[in-house]
Amino acid sequence: MLDRSDSFLKLLFECIYGKTLSSDTFYSLAQSKLSEIARGVAELSDIYTRRRQCVSKSLLNDPLLRRAYLIYFFPCNLFKLKIILKEILAHPKGSRFLKRELRLLDVGCGPGTQLLGFLDFLAEEPLATGWLDCVAVDSLRANLQDAQHLFEQYLRWVDPSRDFPKCTLQTYLAELSQGLLLEPKRKFDFIIFGNVLNELFLETENRIEQRCEVVSAIWKQWLAPEGFLILIEPALKETSRELLLLRDLLLEKSDLKIYSPCVHSLRCPAVARENLSDWCHEDRAWSPPSLIQKIDSLVGNRKSSLKYSYAVFNRMGLSVREAGLWQSQKMAFRGGYDQSDNPADLLTGQRGSQIWRVVSEKIEEKGKSSVYFCGSEGRAKVTRLKKHTSSRNEDFKRLDRGQVVTTTGLKKKNSKDWRVESETQLKGLM
Ligand SMILES: C[S@@+](CC[C@H](N)C(=O)[O-])C[C@H]1O[C@@H](n2cnc3c(N)ncnc32)[C@H](O)[C@@H]1O
Repeated sequence: MLDRSDSFLKLLFECIYGKTLSSDTFYSLAQSKLSEIARGVAELSDIYTRRRQCVSKSLLNDPLLRRAYLIYFFPCNLFKLKIILKEILAHPKGSRFLKRELRLLDVGCGPGTQLLGFLDFLAEEPLATGWLDCVAVDSLRANLQDAQHLFEQYLRWVDPSRDFPKCTLQTYLAELSQGLLLEPKRKFDFIIFGNVLNELFLETENRIEQRCEVVSAIWKQWLAPEGFLILIEPALKETSRELLLLRDLLLEKSDLKIYSPCVHSLRCPAVARENLSDWCHEDRAWSPPSLIQKIDSLVGNRKSSLKYSYAVFNRMGLSVREAGLWQSQKMAFRGGYDQSDNPADLLTGQRGSQIWRVVSEKIEEKGKSSVYFCGSEGRAKVTRLKKHTSSRNEDFKRLDRGQVVTTTGLKKKNSKDWRVESETQLKGLM
């Protein structure tokens, strides 16, 4: 009996090899193709990281690279979208945005990664979505064919006993720099650019401005007033910094606000003029399917976590800050209140409190540990000396990249060195 992730990989193998596979045939095929797939993964990883001058929109036309993308990059990228969608759902109004009838636009869809990510999210979350109408755009016909095929296969594969939404997909062959002409219909509730922006205008000096024009033309015409625009990019320094610059430009040129990961819509401190070496990315733990682990061991990769950069925008002014406060309030209800928590304060934020995103791993040194926070007051290293550990700041030891936290009484030694002291209140929100 295949577990869910192997059963999903079987679907991808069936797409590549064009036939239905029994569990046994799938395992023996996967075993026999392992070294070939690993070769493709090594080549593609090298292009995406060290040989970026070779990145091109026709990359996935190469059969070896295409198979590698489907078996290896597809399941990893799909998982990232689900984390981002869960963060939207965590907002107190979250379920309202996953309402009865949804429209989704996947730009640069490749073989349908984000489409299937969205379907898989709906399969995992008990939501009131009754109908999902998807549109997918790519410049490669073979990608659109795979996207259509996998979309249909996924709907057959997903648990038939579940009341799954009715789902439809329309694909468009389009070159993004030429504009997007879609059938005039209702606007989209979600527009996703998954790992495509870093492939646009690579040879152009003002590529951030040009990407901004492409994204703006699409969201201005197609994003519903209560919709979300989701940009996902690889976590490399170069691609992440370019995403952050694009984020700043989109905010500057429009009424869009950031939903996540940032807890503010001000300029990003990691790409401030004087800052040439910082960047920001996510790094989430996951346990890869055994086939991916085998490929990793052949290639020499380590995929015990998923790294990616992203930015989610909306026009309603909603922020992951409210999601953090809301989730923490729900926890307090479940666990019984700590006497120091006033529930009203929790939802609005306690008087004098600030909200941060943790944007680094924990740095352990003798007698102290530190982590980087980012919030509306900037980005700084926040340190707690061991001797300042107290019940008010005990969440500090559990801090991890990506967490949303609230503090009251953070001590600022200078603009780059902030301290959690015994009396500083610190609470992990989500
Ligand atoms: C790395 S793949 C990403 C696929 C998928 N969205 C994902 O997240 O896994 C980039 C995709 O963007 C498409 N693409 C690149 N440049 C494009 C362009 N100028 N116009 C339309 N699609 C483009 C490529 O064909 C490819 O399918």
